[in-house]
Amino acid sequence: MADGIEPERLSDRLRDLILSGTDETEVLLERTQTRVVRFETAPVHERRHARPAEAARLRRGDGTGFDRLNWEAAARQQPGPGDVEIKVEAIGLNFRDVMFGLGLLPEEILEHGFAGPTLGLECAGRVERVGAAVKLFKPGDRVMAFAKSAFATHVTTPAAVVAPIPRDLAMETAATIPVAFLTAYHGLMICARLKPGEWVLIHGGAGGVGLAAIQIARWRGARVIATAGSPERRTLLASLGAEHVFDSRSGAFIEDVRSVTGEGVAVVLNSLAGEAMERSIGVLRPFGRFVELGKRDYVANTHIGLRPFRRNLSYFGVDLDQLLIDEPATSKLLMRSVMRLFASGDLAPLPYRAFDAAETGEAFRQMQASGHVGKLVVRPPRPADVCVRHRRAFQVAPDKMHVITGGFGGFGLETAKWLAAKGARNLMLIGRSGAASSEASEAVASLTAQGVRVRAEALDIADLPALTRLFARFGRDLPALGGIIHAAMVLDDSLVQNITGERMERVLRPKVAGADNLDQLTRGLKLDYFVMYSSATTLIGNPGQAAYVAANGYMEGLARRRRRAGLPALAIAWGAIEDVGVLARAEGTRDALLARAGIKGMLAQDALRLMGDALAAPAGDIDDAVVAIAPIKWGAARRHLKVLESSAYAKLSGQDEAAAETGDKIDVAALLAGSSPDEARKTISDLIVDEIARVLRLPREDVGRATPLAEIGLDSLMAVELALGLEQRFTLNAPLSTSASSFSVNELVDHIIGLATGALSEDQALKQAMVDRHLAGATVAEIDEEQVMEKVRTMKGVLH
Ligand SMILES: NC(=O)c1ccc[n+]([C@@H]2O[C@H](COP(=O)([O-])OP(=O)(O)OC[C@H]3O[C@@H](n4cnc5c(N)ncnc54)[C@H](OP(=O)(O)O)[C@@H]3O)[C@@H](O)[C@H]2O)c1
Repeated sequence: MADGIEPERLSDRLRDLILSGTDETEVLLERTQTRVVRFETAPVHERRHARPAEAARLRRGDGTGFDRLNWEAAARQQPGPGDVEIKVEAIGLNFRDVMFGLGLLPEEILEHGFAGPTLGLECAGRVERVGAAVKLFKPGDRVMAFAKSAFATHVTTPAAVVAPIPRDLAMETAATIPVAFLTAYHGLMICARLKPGEWVLIHGGAGGVGLAAIQIARWRGARVIATAGSPERRTLLASLGAEHVFDSRSGAFIEDVRSVTGEGVAVVLNSLAGEAMERSIGVLRPFGRFVELGKRDYVANTHIGLRPFRRNLSYFGVDLDQLLIDEPATSKLLMRSVMRLFASGDLAPLPYRAFDAAETGEAFRQMQASGHVGKLVVRPPRPADVCVRHRRAFQVAPDKMHVITGGFGGFGLETAKWLAAKGARNLMLIGRSGAASSEASEAVASLTAQGVRVRAEALDIADLPALTRLFARFGRDLPALGGIIHAAMVLDDSLVQNITGERMERVLRPKVAGADNLDQLTRGLKLDYFVMYSSATTLIGNPGQAAYVAANGYMEGLARRRRRAGLPALAIAWGAIEDVGVLARAEGTRDALLARAGIKGMLAQDALRLMGDALAAPAGDIDDAVVAIAPIKWGAARRHLKVLESSAYAKLSGQDEAAAETGDKIDVAALLAGSSPDEARKTISDLIVDEIARVLRLPREDVGRATPLAEIGLDSLMAVELALGLEQRFTLNAPLSTSASSFSVNELVDHIIGLATGALSEDQALKQAMVDRHLAGATVAEIDEEQVMEKVRTMKGVLH
């Protein structure tokens, strides 16, 4: 309750609050307003000062999924003599971008290509600048082009791969042309030499290349059979001139094609992977040509039998990206041929759906889910909407004195080393017993050897007269005081009923009296920083630490009070430091914190780096006077700590997703050892559901635990994303199968437990899951290998 409110008014407000039935657990009654507590995440490293960028580019950051794609500031590139700089207005999205964005295309698959391992290959826009040798284009021209890193606001690319946009085409429409039409033209006309009257089977007919190929094949006078995955798309393809349209997801299309053509098709334009790809080779007639456009079987290094090729078959691997760089003359010719067909009206642009820059992730996701017809196009952001982020570093004044109380303790010494590394040349470490431990004297000697003047003070920080005498020397015979880090503490954990006044006093003394003394003695000084080391237990509580939590809570209040008075102050609620300090000395407590409160360990220097970011942030906001730097697994914490049900923590939900994005891990073996089998299974199952919900963008409640994942919409590419996500979250002894889509959540739990405990290899775990499902009651050891594999083979879509 704030001071200065009349008691009567206060009691009225309190009564109203109680009668309102609010479920708030902490309420602040101020003179003119009532405030409640809300915790929120605000990564300290994002508190930076920014200015608008001159250009922007889409980049793949850390983590998994498309959420890691970010538009970031970039520099414009001066065109070389034969280059053109284009201000991009629309970018065509291709499947290679989706796979690269997901981290599923190894860089070596892309590095020999024109665009290399970057996002984006084609775009449309206006010419900004041209190189000295470029005669065909001038600034302002509307063009479409192939370009490296085409997901950008500006690209610089060779004029040879740029073409003017026919006058009546919109920018978005033009961006759909280069990759789809040149790929289809090259595949059908140059590789397969498609002749009039020949049958051609075009897989994935409703995609960009597929639709372009249907147009080219029909212009050529060939007869088209197309495949597509949904009835709507099949209807569309039939309306676009495919004579027959079959379902690419059913194995029956092979028989269908045979019944239509008799001896088979002359050309297959393939984008299917695995078994469907191999079966498509079988549908070629003698002298047939198989044109592979996909990448998945190259990445997987799929083996195929050569027998069908004895019938004079040809196989072509088409990768336009490489063609552009290795065969520039062919590329130019292709570009000209395609543009001529557009000019004559023989070809028409593709249908597309356009997305704004803010929806980039959504565009990628839609292509991944194959939920589109034709092309997907993204408009880049305005460069000014993307900021150049550059850090204002926390500066340490070398000539001033930097005081660390509790400076000889584990974390205190690390803080001293960190300040020295940041440039501090005068350090004062304070502890009641001075540099008594060998660790402390060694650290002081090492700092001294680096040229840092270290004063070791044996002093009780709660002893005001002694502290006053010491502080009186700053700016006289000692350098002026630059800043204080108050890290002194005494721990004396006990349950509330066992706390005595004496024990309470021992814990409060360094933190409460110590902090008050430091505050009082420095009020008249101009300090650069005033930091108090608190603990994340103030955020979530910890049984047995009532006194410690109270002491830290007091310092957090002091930090706010100082900021309100315009003084520097920052209280840091630290999580568990695992390499030095009190928890490094007490492994049991550290493990209990993780198991009970979901608090994970962090290294002292990593933690201090984040403190540097927090110190670099503008110091004005009173609510920012307390910052927690603590990796916490909210899922685990929420299961054990009732307090987290309070609405004060509501904004922290969904943190587990963020944790997964940053590669947070759970040690399944340790989990199994430390909790009952049912609890462990529940934890694993919940995390799997979190991951599936993230990949499928579904509410968690919609993820059934007994339903095969394929039935709730997990396709094979999503299964790969899921497997990567799960591998990141669980410490597994073997990579997770990417065939996850045929499993239910419950089966995946068994699978992961088997892998993590080393009880089963990946292969065995997979088979055990099959056995569980189809041969109830048996174990892998009891079942004949061939019997299991027979089951596996008969299950459609389980292994591919
Ligand atoms: N380590 C962690 O995981 C962790 C987690 C959260 C928060 N923190 C905070 O980080 C700070 C440092 O922790 P730590 O792990 O380094 O603890 P530590 O190793 O136990 O060091 C604490 C130091 O404080 C000194 N001290 C105690 N009472 C004092 C007093 N009255 N006057 C002067 N010095 C006094 C002690 O030295 P003497 O006994 O010689 O006086 C000791 O060296 C603490 O404030 C703690 O609350 C640490």
